[in-house]
Amino acid sequence: METFAEFQRRRNSEFYSSKGGRIYSSFRTFAHSLKFAEANAVEFAARVRSTPDSEAGRRANKRKGKLRIYEIGVGDGSFALNFLKALRRINSEVEERTTYILWDFSEKGVELAAGKLEGFNFETVVAPAWDWKKMRGATCVKCNELLDDLPTRMLVRRGLRANEVVREGGKFLEVETQLDGEIALFMEGMPEGYWVPAPEMGLECILGWKGKLAVGGWIDVFDYGFADAEGMRMLPRDVWNAAIWREFSKQVTVDVNFAFLKRCVGGRVEPQKDYVERALGKDLWEVDVGGKLDYYSYEEVKKNEKKLEKEGYDVAVLLAGMEKSDYLHMEIRR
Ligand SMILES: C[S@@+](CC[C@H](N)C(=O)[O-])C[C@H]1O[C@@H](n2cnc3c(N)ncnc32)[C@H](O)[C@@H]1O
Repeated sequence: METFAEFQRRRNSEFYSSKGGRIYSSFRTFAHSLKFAEANAVEFAARVRSTPDSEAGRRANKRKGKLRIYEIGVGDGSFALNFLKALRRINSEVEERTTYILWDFSEKGVELAAGKLEGFNFETVVAPAWDWKKMRGATCVKCNELLDDLPTRMLVRRGLRANEVVREGGKFLEVETQLDGEIALFMEGMPEGYWVPAPEMGLECILGWKGKLAVGGWIDVFDYGFADAEGMRMLPRDVWNAAIWREFSKQVTVDVNFAFLKRCVGGRVEPQKDYVERALGKDLWEVDVGGKLDYYSYEEVKKNEKKLEKEGYDVAVLLAGMEKSDYLHMEIRR
C-alpha cells in the first residue's frame, strides 16, 4: 500500500528517468507562448525599476548580473529563452543586470535549456525543487507547471474524520488519518467525500524559496488548479474526484490547491489570463492550438477562426469568454 503522494512520486520519477531528453520538448504548457513570456518580462522590468527601496540595494542592483531569476522546472528552456529575448527588447539595461538560473532535477532538461541561452547571463542548478539551500539572493523565483508534478497528499473529509487516499493492488482506497495544523482546519471547510489535494511538498518549496528572496523579491507560481472551494461544489463529487488528477504517459499530475497555499503563505491568486492581459494592456483569449497553449488577441482569433474550429472551438463561445480556464497565477512577496 502506498499513499497518493508516494504513488505520484514513484510514477513521476519513473517518467522523468525513462524518456530521456525527448519529453522536454513535448510539454503542453504556456512555455512556448511569446505573449506569456513578454508579460513576465514587462512585469519583471517594471518591478525591478521600482525596487529595492534601500540605497545599498540600489547600488547592488546596478551591478551586472546582480538581479537573480530562478526558474524551477525549466523543461526545454523555451520559456527562459522567450523571456530573456523579450526582456532585452523591453529593457536591455535590466536584462544585462540579470542572471537567469536554470533549475531542474533533470540534467538532460538543464543541458537542453542551457543550449538555448548562449549570449545571456545564466547559471545552472541540477537539484530537486526543495533543495533551496542552493539558492541565494533571489530577485524572483518562478515556476510553470511544476507544482502539479510534485508529490501531493490526497485527503477526503468524512464527517468529523479525515481519510487519506492510498493505492493498493492498482486501486484507490481511503484509510483514516490524523491531521493537525492548517491542513486540519482547511479540511473542516471542505465538502464531504471530495478528494482534496494537500500540496504539502509544494508548500514546503514555496516557504523555502521565500526565505531566499532578496529585498523586494517575489515568487511567481503559474499552474492549473483551483483558488477556492466554490468550483468544487459546482461539480458532482464523482466528476470532481475523477478530474482532480490525471495520468499522461504514466506521469501523474494533480490540480494545484491554491486555496490551501494561499491560506498558509498569503499572497495573491488570480487567473493567469488576467496577469497577461494586465501586463500587455489588452484583451486576450486563451487557446490550445496544435498542442500549444497560447493567448490570442481579438484579431488573431478572427484570423485563425478556421484553425480554431478544427481544434473544436466554437469561436462565438470563445469570444464571449465562456470557455473555462483553470490556469492561475500566484504571487508571493518576501
Ligand atoms: C511539466 S514540466 C514543465 C516544464 C516547463 N516549466 C514548461 O512549462 O514547459 C515540469 C518540469 O519540472 C521538472 N521537475 C519535476 N519535478 C521536479 C522536482 N521535484 N524538482 C525539480 N524539477 C522538477 C521536470 O523535469 C520538468 O522540466
